[in-house]
Amino acid sequence: MKILVTGGCGFIGSNFIRAVLTDRPDWDIVNLDALTYAGNLTTTLDFQTYPHYRFVYGSVTDRELVNTLVQNSDAVVHFAAETHVDRSINDIEPFIMTNILGTSRLVDACRKYNKRFHHVSTDEVFGSLGPMDPKFNEATPYRPLNPYSATKAAADHIVRAAVHTHQVRATISNCTNNYGPYLYPEKFLSIAITNLLEGRPMIVHGDGSQVRDWIHATDHARGVLSILERGLIGETYLMGGGCEFSILQTAKLLLQLMGLNDNMLVFVNDRPGQDMRYAIDYGKIQRELGWQPETSLENGLRDMIAWYRNNPQWWKPIKQSAGYAEWYHKQVERNGKSF
Ligand SMILES: NC(=O)c1ccc[n+]([C@@H]2O[C@H](COP(=O)([O-])OP(=O)(O)OC[C@H]3O[C@@H](n4cnc5c(N)ncnc54)[C@H](O)[C@@H]3O)[C@@H](O)[C@H]2O)c1
Repeated sequence: MKILVTGGCGFIGSNFIRAVLTDRPDWDIVNLDALTYAGNLTTTLDFQTYPHYRFVYGSVTDRELVNTLVQNSDAVVHFAAETHVDRSINDIEPFIMTNILGTSRLVDACRKYNKRFHHVSTDEVFGSLGPMDPKFNEATPYRPLNPYSATKAAADHIVRAAVHTHQVRATISNCTNNYGPYLYPEKFLSIAITNLLEGRPMIVHGDGSQVRDWIHATDHARGVLSILERGLIGETYLMGGGCEFSILQTAKLLLQLMGLNDNMLVFVNDRPGQDMRYAIDYGKIQRELGWQPETSLENGLRDMIAWYRNNPQWWKPIKQSAGYAEWYHKQVERNGKSF
């Protein structure tokens, strides 16, 4: 099996490649990544020299390159995306280019060469739940509420339309909030852990009552692999971690696991249009493909804290870079507090 993975220098894509190298060591993997601010070659250091692995620098929007790579693969697993909600609030254009146009180019190439396509998407396309609402499932209507999720929703529709119109052999997965090693330090848990390791406070948006359903990236990666191998063409599968916690509960658990007190918490202005609750019913993939999340939040966080403690050479240069400083200052302006 030869697979083309897009966005494999990012957080979940690299965890997916690690899972494939472990579980399917005879597969060939080509990783197409544009190395944006979120993609880092040091993220792939542990498998860069593996004989079945090859890195290609380039964008999913480059039609010619995409056609060549897709033609030479059996299947495409598409992770590449602009992913940070705060950045999409500042400027939606890169999100339109990569998430919509890039996905469309990959789908077109899979149509042209009749290749299997798996599209990795997010539960944010379903909008936000109230405290008592039932969890999202595969029948939940789309209701994206921020620019990032609007572009991911558009991409999902493009994939579904290609299955219906052109019989492209595609599947889609929508997954909830991931955490684990190699999470870029602009997301809640990775800013928190790296800040706390540096003796700085952790920030909580608003009052921290927003609820997230945390899934470890390795569990997500194994779910994607099961869909690629056994998923039915045209189907969508939702994945969650079975770990619904408010941001404040998560923050307090993290502090406890790191042996710190609540005085390390700093509350900042909530982001505009904040989604209040995400939660996933993963019954379909569990029943049909036998997948379920394996990692409890407590164990997953322990593993994540240990990884960041042992790998400052990965995250310190990111936090010291000029691009990160620019992003940080924008956040401080909007949050009203430094962190
Ligand atoms: N992080 C989460 O909690 C989460 C949850 C559900 C779904 N997802 C989805 O999973 C996928 C991966 O998310 P992530 O958190 O690993 O993202 P990430 O931001 O860590 O990594 C994205 C990767 O894509 C690459 N990339 C960006 N634009 C590109 C382009 N035009 N061409 C080629 N490569 C490009 C980047 O360089 C980077 O390596 C995304 O599609 C995202 O929507 C993420």
